[in-house]
Amino acid sequence: MSIDASTGQRDGQDGTDSAGPDLSSREIRLVARPTGEPGPENFELVRTTVPAPGPGQILVRNTWLSVDPYMRGRMDDRKSYIAPFRIGAALDGGAVGEVVASEAESVPVGATVSHFLGWREYAVLDAAAATVVDTGIAPAEAYLGVLGLTGLTAYVALTDTATVRPGDVVFVSAAAGAVGSVAGQFARKLGASRVVGSAGGPQKARRLVAEFGYDAAIDYRAGSVAAQLATAAPDGIDVYFDNVGGDHLAAALGALHVGGRVALVGAISGYNATAPVPGPANLALAVSKRLSLRGMLVTDHLDRFAEYLPLAASWLADGSLRTVSTVREGIEAAPGAFLEMLRGGNVGKMLVRLADGPS
Ligand SMILES: NC(=O)c1ccc[n+]([C@@H]2O[C@H](COP(=O)([O-])OP(=O)(O)OC[C@H]3O[C@@H](n4cnc5c(N)ncnc54)[C@H](OP(=O)(O)O)[C@@H]3O)[C@@H](O)[C@H]2O)c1
Repeated sequence: MSIDASTGQRDGQDGTDSAGPDLSSREIRLVARPTGEPGPENFELVRTTVPAPGPGQILVRNTWLSVDPYMRGRMDDRKSYIAPFRIGAALDGGAVGEVVASEAESVPVGATVSHFLGWREYAVLDAAAATVVDTGIAPAEAYLGVLGLTGLTAYVALTDTATVRPGDVVFVSAAAGAVGSVAGQFARKLGASRVVGSAGGPQKARRLVAEFGYDAAIDYRAGSVAAQLATAAPDGIDVYFDNVGGDHLAAALGALHVGGRVALVGAISGYNATAPVPGPANLALAVSKRLSLRGMLVTDHLDRFAEYLPLAASWLADGSLRTVSTVREGIEAAPGAFLEMLRGGNVGKMLVRLADGPS
């Protein structure tokens, strides 16, 4: 069997022969750990060869890569819920692509799959580590956003971690981002009476209301979050969806009603910090207001995909759920897309498109 390096197609009749030359592919590697904000010098683009898949494996031509904030934590060498990236090795992360060779009956050539060997053009992986996705429901890249971990994060945070009840006032930070832009819409669907979002810059703040169904928006770069939240939610809030930490969490603690709930989903304002980030100075309000502050990791809730996917698919189909993505082109653009996302250069899901694929 041989491989056409321009398409990844192998010339066997059924693509199941594992013999043949290796395939040329490019990948992004970590070359140095950052201190503070990462830069292009932390990454390198390397051409490498990808072996033919072994028994039980598939070869995937990646078409889209997911760009996510948690990757910043993996650039540091510290113990966490997920292993650090290794210096000199390709990064990994969410991706979707087309199966171009298969040694596994369960995943045929031509299938579109999601998996976690992103940051490279071609990936060889165990078929069991890939999920076949239905591009009849939504384009492949949706499985990295609203139909993937991004959407599930928003859904679980609001239905489980800090449950939204009918009539609640809900505040969401990083509200124009991938998770936040759907979280506001989910809060409304769950019966929230008022949904307030925070984002950086006047343009994003306008889009929160015009496109993502928020009732009011805060531009956190324009002034105090606490003062703006007091204006946007004058009677206080019941639920805070925290993507940011820092001043946003402190403002929410001040605005929460007695018995209020906080979903601690992310704390991006501290991801580039070079010293320990202090907790909110007003945390003692959690005592007097009997608040619940609860952390969540979406990977603990993968069983809820079965409930979430049909629901999200139906909302996409009836047009009641709006999603947006920011797209950069080519594997060489992946580090820049990541750095841009950390600085707020995205609206909705930040994605890198590598190649055309089924949509
Ligand atoms: N717990 C989980 O399982 C889980 C799963 C997925 C994501 N998350 C977390 O959810 C949050 C959102 O993730 P995402 O994938 O949807 O990313 P995203 O919101 O699409 O992108 C990150 C956004 O963070 C904002 N940001 C950056 N620095 C900030 C700062 N100092 N203060 C306020 N906002 C800042 C930027 O928007 P602005 O222009 O508005 O600043 C940027 O667009 C992150 O904290 C992430 O770690 C957690």
